[in-house]
Amino acid sequence: AVTTVEGVGSTKTRVHPIQERLAKCHGSQCGFCTPGMVMSMYALLRNHPEPSMEQITAALDGNLCRCTGYRPIIDTYKSFTGEPACCQLRGTGQCCLDKEDVCSSSDKGNQMRSDLCSPEEFQPVDPTQEFIFPPELMRMAQEQQKRTLVFHGERTTWISPTNLRELLELKAMYPKAPLVVGNTSVGLDMKLEGVIHPVIIHPTRIPDLHVVSNTNNGLLIGAACCLAQLRDILIRAVSELPEEKTKIFRTLLQQLKTLAGEQIRSLASLGGHIVSRGSTWDLNPVLAIGNSVLSLASKDGTRQIPLNDHFLAGYENSDLKPEEVIVSVFIPYSGKDDFVSAFRQAERQKNALSVVNSGMRVLFKANTNIIMDLNILYGGIGSTTVSARKSCQRLKGRQWNEQMLDEACKLVLGEISLSPSAPGGKVEYRRTLLVSFLFKFYLEVLYGLKKMYPTKYPDLSKKNMSALGEFHSEAHQSMQIYQDVDPGQPPQDPVGRPIMHQSGIKHATGEAVYCNDIRSVDEELFLTVVTSSRAHAKIVSIDASEALKMPGVVDVITAKDIPGKNGSEEEQAYAEDEVICMGQIVCAVVAESNVQAKRGAEKVKIKYEDLEPILTIEDAIKHNSYFGEVKKVEQGNIEEGFKSVDEIIEGEIHIGGQEHFYLETNSVLVVPRGEDKEMDVHVSTQDAARVQELVASALDVQSSRIMCHSKRVGGAFGGKMTKPAFFAVVAAVAAHKTGRPVRFTLERDEDMLITGGRHPLFGKYKVGFTNEGRIIAADIECYINAGCTLDESELVIEYVVLKTDNAYKIPNLRVRGRACKTNLPSNTAFRGFGFPQVGLFTESWVAAVATQTGLPHEKIREINMYKGVNLTPFKEELDATNLMKCWKECMEKSEYHCRKIAVEEFNKQNYWKKKGIAIIPMKFTVGFNATQYHQAAALVHIYTDGSVLVTHGGIELGQGIHTKILQIASRELKVPLSYVHFCETSTVTVPNAIVTAGSIGSEVNGKAVQNACQILRKRLEPIINKNPEGKWEDWVTEAHGHSVSLSATGYFRGYVTNMNWDTGEGNAFPYFVFGVACSEVEIDCLTGGHKNIRTDIVMDACFSINPAVDIGQIEGAFIQGVGLYTMEEINFSPEGQQYTLGPDTYKIPAVCDIPEQFRVYLLPNSRNPMAIYSSKGIGEAGLFLGSSVFFAIRDAVAAVRKERGLTKTFTLNSPLTVEQIRMACADNFTEMPWLH
Ligand SMILES: Cc1cc2nc3c(=O)[nH]c(=O)nc-3n(C[C@H](O)[C@H](O)[C@H](O)COP(=O)(O)OP(=O)(O)OC[C@H]3O[C@@H](n4cnc5c(N)ncnc54)[C@H](O)[C@@H]3O)c2cc1C
Ligand code: FES
Repeated sequence: AVTTVEGVGSTKTRVHPIQERLAKCHGSQCGFCTPGMVMSMYALLRNHPEPSMEQITAALDGNLCRCTGYRPIIDTYKSFTGEPACCQLRGTGQCCLDKEDVCSSSDKGNQMRSDLCSPEEFQPVDPTQEFIFPPELMRMAQEQQKRTLVFHGERTTWISPTNLRELLELKAMYPKAPLVVGNTSVGLDMKLEGVIHPVIIHPTRIPDLHVVSNTNNGLLIGAACCLAQLRDILIRAVSELPEEKTKIFRTLLQQLKTLAGEQIRSLASLGGHIVSRGSTWDLNPVLAIGNSVLSLASKDGTRQIPLNDHFLAGYENSDLKPEEVIVSVFIPYSGKDDFVSAFRQAERQKNALSVVNSGMRVLFKANTNIIMDLNILYGGIGSTTVSARKSCQRLKGRQWNEQMLDEACKLVLGEISLSPSAPGGKVEYRRTLLVSFLFKFYLEVLYGLKKMYPTKYPDLSKKNMSALGEFHSEAHQSMQIYQDVDPGQPPQDPVGRPIMHQSGIKHATGEAVYCNDIRSVDEELFLTVVTSSRAHAKIVSIDASEALKMPGVVDVITAKDIPGKNGSEEEQAYAEDEVICMGQIVCAVVAESNVQAKRGAEKVKIKYEDLEPILTIEDAIKHNSYFGEVKKVEQGNIEEGFKSVDEIIEGEIHIGGQEHFYLETNSVLVVPRGEDKEMDVHVSTQDAARVQELVASALDVQSSRIMCHSKRVGGAFGGKMTKPAFFAVVAAVAAHKTGRPVRFTLERDEDMLITGGRHPLFGKYKVGFTNEGRIIAADIECYINAGCTLDESELVIEYVVLKTDNAYKIPNLRVRGRACKTNLPSNTAFRGFGFPQVGLFTESWVAAVATQTGLPHEKIREINMYKGVNLTPFKEELDATNLMKCWKECMEKSEYHCRKIAVEEFNKQNYWKKKGIAIIPMKFTVGFNATQYHQAAALVHIYTDGSVLVTHGGIELGQGIHTKILQIASRELKVPLSYVHFCETSTVTVPNAIVTAGSIGSEVNGKAVQNACQILRKRLEPIINKNPEGKWEDWVTEAHGHSVSLSATGYFRGYVTNMNWDTGEGNAFPYFVFGVACSEVEIDCLTGGHKNIRTDIVMDACFSINPAVDIGQIEGAFIQGVGLYTMEEINFSPEGQQYTLGPDTYKIPAVCDIPEQFRVYLLPNSRNPMAIYSSKGIGEAGLFLGSSVFFAIRDAVAAVRKERGLTKTFTLNSPLTVEQIRMACADNFTEMPWLH
């Protein structure tokens, strides 16, 4: 039986407590990941009704969320544990929810609160309400057990035998047919590599493959057992057997903790893992050093082979024969003198394939430290797991001491080679890990020897003790503090209260409809695109003849089919004569099904004539390849400034781009209405008006014929501002040509390939300062990689230049910026719009000043920060009073100074692990530098039953815009929230709406809605005044009876902003948002891994219309920032082919990456008269605060380098990956002559 999220609970029947709590605890924003979160938790609760926090986080390891930052999801699920709800932050038993303590931070003004939801309202969990496994299905399963199942598909036959004999016969008949158990390896090859298997054998119903038995010498485990079962078997064995026998088992368990996520572990089988033997599979090196044995069977009989390096390398004599299957795997017990360890380092702590892994085992002559046998295997180095066989052989007979270690490192680096051009890159890092792991093993063994023979061996030095073990981990704790509404505010007025997301319950029950959930339309066709495989080339020909012959293919669409304009001025929807990046859309195939469209697309042949591409910023600078002119802002006198300083430093930094990785990929459904050239376009976009405009111009019809609709978007982050219009044009042209509805939903890899992302930035600085650390002059140059078309790059470089100062007053500052034109996919808007890149750049040179002066970083930051009322470099007035308030509050709340001392003390005690702490200030600007981009409109109807329908131009991206809008309408009309409804954003109801972006969507649309509601309320006033004691419904009926219009439009003209680039001056932004974050991390100097320990954020959100929504935005953006600065790395081949096209190669933060302690405080008693109800837009600001983690890591690296006498100045580029961290912590291992 398959239970889906709809089956767990629904609004039509009963909402399950998991769904209810997730929604009420604000665990969903865009809601696209929410069903997955619900199902992971549901599966866990069905198996463990009162799970521990460890089990909960493990259950969520395999789920990704791009919006929430996971904190509210973890908090929700905490409520299902038997563990205390209180945070116990102080370890004193004192609770974070202690009102007295919370209140003390707001001596004036309203009370502070820390509760974003009311757990007392949660429905209790009632296991008797759960579905039972349908007995009918059990009966059917038992009956089916006796017969072979065969399913014939179009291209594949799937056979599921019932017994071993039958399986072996099938394997003899179809030796090439894979045995598919979990399908996590075969399935990926079929989906991503296009591998076709005419026959697939499914052996999971065969009891022999599920055997589990404890023998005298070890454990025998059936090959079809899944990895989750393997874990449970090993846990049991470890608890029952003496410790010395279970060393291999415990090592396997350690690897299983981080191997994939629980979903994969519950599917992937032991046999499948062993046979698919990917180079980075984590169990194989351990099984091999454990001398595991594979029991094989074929029609000709049975035999046993060792699972060793030769098997893993696929040597013919050591491998399975095509007609053989693995029945079971024997894992022997370890012995007393065995020492076993395993290591892995991945780009993310969990649910990421290892960069390098290893299994190591040494066996000593009894009661000595003389090596009798040594076995070392590494994964991630070649195409298979490799063994340091020869090195191990040479080391036999040697004593376990430092000389042996030196020799071992030399031998291993000599034996295990990795060419400089090895696939996957990171060559030096991977080679460093070989010896770093070896060193860890050496120490672990020494430690073990000492434990076994306390009098015979010396203690491990304190220095070396710090290399042992994993990061210490503790349960997640969090706190969210905000100011309560005025006690006089009527309870019915929802403004200022943490109201649940308007679609929260629907997200959690799976009822929320996204673009691709819209039911199929009659005669609907599916579209897929064929994209350029060249970075820069002339299109010589497009041959679609083969594609058109494919079953189901209806047509192939090219630029020639466009009746009107091909895209916009700057960007084509379909390439015409030339392609300018890999991934550019050349043509589209429409077919009766999605699969047929994809098969058709494979048959389109395009001939190119290559042209020289420009790929990097450096290339673009060399070739003078730019969009637009230099953007420049200057204040003071830069030359004079440099003359008056004590010291000048210069440097460069590279900051990588970022993939939006919204969970809902781009999606559009175009439905011709069949008359008057009308067309409905359902689209996942931030800008419906732009979609309408481009589709109309492509079809050469008036905009009034194109109706664009967007109910909700499954995450956008700027990535759906401009690009969806082109996808809509592609589909609309196909719909126009065929006269049929067309559905076009991008696969994840297509979306990542085509759409571009955040602009990489290259910055150069020259900074002059006094010995006291006062920065007097800074000359800054910034270059961004715009990619192949302009898109929003001009605006991004303008923002880079305008926002370079971040929180600092630099009296003499010159900033120049250029957008580089290259042959990469066109980069576009991304949360923060250039500021996250330039902010990190600025903080890097401020940090360099601190390093150079030797003064504390926080001191340099503080003395250079804006204070009170100032002018920005472009002469806009700036009152930075709240910046300093946030700074002080954050210093205090994070207990920065005493924790800094604790960090220093930790670092003194730990040579191989270091902690770092950093506090980073932020001045963020919201909105756009032109008034027209802030305008907004709304349409509000009151129906005669009193219900209210609100429409406005903003789009729900997960940021809670409609929730806030409903709160505003409720307050203005003075009706309960439940009376107000929002249906969809549409160009039909609100025309010419401005893109939902720039953090201001909710407030400007809120102003328009407020205006409409006030107009309506005014119209109703005479009637209300006549009958003040009446009910809303009565007034509405009365008004209708007196012919009072119950519908009104509302409008907001926009904040007055402007920027004059000729003078470099202007009132560029409506207002500023201030924030400060303090983060603490720990790094492992030998592997480059890091752990986020604690983050405290203080944000000046002024009066928050909805504290739950705003805090959710801050937390989610912060974690997205942590991803940007520490792990999300986009890689291209030298030819411009993007390598990172999916979650396997591109890592966004997962549950394991959030700080163990995560606290957000909204600065109290702060007001912003500019925005509605004195609020502030904070959708983007939090992202930059993720840089506090970058600088905390930098602080830890600096401590390493100081201790080792390395140069105090060093450059760290972003993202600060495991590779960069490891290589910056230079030591004996990175410097080994044999390494290079
Ligand atoms: C998202 C994801 C994350 C992952 N992360 C990790 C990770 O962090 N660490 C890690 O080590 N691995 C990881 N993996 C890989 C995973 O461990 C393997 O894909 C999995 O173990 C394969 O098992 P399966 O049952 O799904 O194999 P299948 O795909 O079903 O089969 C794989 C192969 O094994 C053969 N086979 C299966 N059973 C037998 C048998 N009894 N006899 C003979 N041949 C057999 C099949 O013929 C086929 O060729 C990840 C995979 C995915 C999809
Ligand atoms: S709410 Fe999780 S991805 Fe949007």
